[in-house]
Amino acid sequence: MAFGWIDEQAQARRRAGLVRTLRPRAADSPLLDLAGNDYLGLARHPEVTEGAARAARLWGGGSTGSRLVTGTTDLHGELERELADFCGFEAALVFSSGYAANLAAVTALAPHGSLIVSDAGNHASLIDGCRLARGTTQVVAHADPDAVRKILGTHPGPAVLVSDTVFSVDGDAAPLAELAAACRESGAGMIIDDAHGLGVLGTGGRGAPHAAELAGAPDVVATVTLSKSLGSQGGAVLGPAPVIDHLVNAARTFIFDTGLAPAATGAALAALRVLRREPERAAQARTVATALHTRLTADGHEAVRPDAAVVSVRAPSPEQAVEWAADCRAAGVAVGCFRPPSVPDGISRLRLTARADLTDEQIGHAVGVIGATRP
Ligand SMILES: Cc1ncc(COP(=O)(O)O)c(C=O)c1O
Repeated sequence: MAFGWIDEQAQARRRAGLVRTLRPRAADSPLLDLAGNDYLGLARHPEVTEGAARAARLWGGGSTGSRLVTGTTDLHGELERELADFCGFEAALVFSSGYAANLAAVTALAPHGSLIVSDAGNHASLIDGCRLARGTTQVVAHADPDAVRKILGTHPGPAVLVSDTVFSVDGDAAPLAELAAACRESGAGMIIDDAHGLGVLGTGGRGAPHAAELAGAPDVVATVTLSKSLGSQGGAVLGPAPVIDHLVNAARTFIFDTGLAPAATGAALAALRVLRREPERAAQARTVATALHTRLTADGHEAVRPDAAVVSVRAPSPEQAVEWAADCRAAGVAVGCFRPPSVPDGISRLRLTARADLTDEQIGHAVGVIGATRP
């Protein structure tokens, strides 16, 4: 049987308690949402949904082709200019997802003969970028500038460090200044994924590279997603203009992929403008994350101190993590659940995301439910 091996894999997954299933989602769900990544509460903001609708009415439901084939709209150009300016970079290029942006940055900037130094806690999209790149990848210990320095010292040719700025599993931040110092000692570049930093870290949410004074540097390239704090969909690479020009010519997920949908582009642009006007949303997301962490640890949960808006709570086992998340949901609170293989260290967790618009009462309610359903 051609796909007989799938059954064996499915059985192994069932035995290990690692089966993933899709659940229906209702537009008017009454659940208190601590599972989505809408950190600033912008996904349903009227200006954001109107930005999407206006763009779709003007440009249609899709971009109709690669921007190299069907052309680039004013909307894409505006979003790229405003995003680069906001985050402090010279130029930007948008992609159909953050995943595609990461594949683009790593593959196009790590040619044959180069070394890629990749943090052990990196997001799957960066890992896949490393797998697809022609350069050779060396995985280093998590958030360890000395390990990075050591490996870079062994390679005489071009090299690049690849790291999340805020790690998606535990919500801890990379030591960007120290990593930059290590890279600069050997002339290596940096590709840093600010998916969880944009809109949350830095002045008014300008992101982790801006906060670390790395934005706009000639040796630093950042990637972002438009699907978390900007409440839309899509991704972008930010960096020096020659790097962005290079991506237009060399990044396969730009060249061979349909351009970012007009609605997603319009929504992201509207969200960015709301964030510029209401910069306090960024600090508020961090305040909510800290409040969640403080109350959870006071209740005896093992939770990692959040550096941005992700709060991770340790669960005893994959099966219990799934049950715990299901019990929370049954009690009206949606939480994320991370299990192997999404977590390289094998530790299962509930993953909560702080939203800037959560009230004190909602935070208290969520923590109460998480405590009452604890395995
Ligand atoms: C750290 C990180 N990078 C990249 C991505 C991918 O972004 P997107 O969902 O826009 O493809 C995600 C999340 O999905 C993420 O958490």
